[in-house]
Amino acid sequence: MQQPFTLRKFVPDDLQAVMQINRVCLPENYTDFFFVDLHQRFPETFIVAEEDSKVSGYIMCRIEVGLSNYGFGGLIRKGHVVSIAVMPQSRRKGMASALINRAMEGMAYYKAKQCFLEVRVTNELGITLYKKLGFEVTRTINGYYSDGEDAYVMTKKLA
Ligand SMILES: CC(C)(COP(=O)(O)OP(=O)(O)OC[C@H]1O[C@@H](n2cnc3c(N)ncnc32)[C@H](O)[C@@H]1OP(=O)(O)O)[C@@H](O)C(=O)NCCC(=O)NCCS
Repeated sequence: MQQPFTLRKFVPDDLQAVMQINRVCLPENYTDFFFVDLHQRFPETFIVAEEDSKVSGYIMCRIEVGLSNYGFGGLIRKGHVVSIAVMPQSRRKGMASALINRAMEGMAYYKAKQCFLEVRVTNELGITLYKKLGFEVTRTINGYYSDGEDAYVMTKKLA
């Protein structure tokens, strides 16, 4: 079946729609500068999904240099999913999965070897989604979130 949505790269005119999705879906909210800065630095991994000509989901990422999340080897480039969300009415249609897959293509463009993200240990939907896409838990960060909740770091190797 054809997907009921399309993907494209974020453009500055999407800023208000993306900030609104972020506010509706997640407790971690950011300034407009934060979104614009990530877009300017990493446009290939800032993707939006449109359903019925309306921006309904987004993913934004950062490329970082650090040690492998699997604990061996030297410094590598890694793609860090900073934020991903899909509006409630657009969920369960594969939108988040498609956004992550497209962002991982962008990470490969930036020569990243691994993709990782943090997820609340109680976010069962998120954890299920990431496992389905081949991510595994590589670490737990105690008290990562501002309300004190722990995060799993979940990682996937990029081809
Ligand atoms: C998590 C979130 C991004 C998933 O978006 P989505 O577009 O609905 O995800 P997908 O349709 O790609 O779902 C992929 C898989 O995840 C799992 N999943 C997603 N939503 C689920 C639900 N409500 N119940 C059970 N499993 C679910 C399923 O395995 C699903 O595959 P399936 O539909 O074939 O069974 C969305 O629910 C959301 O924005 N939540 C709030 C913000 C958030 O938690 N962001 C992640 C923070 S790390």
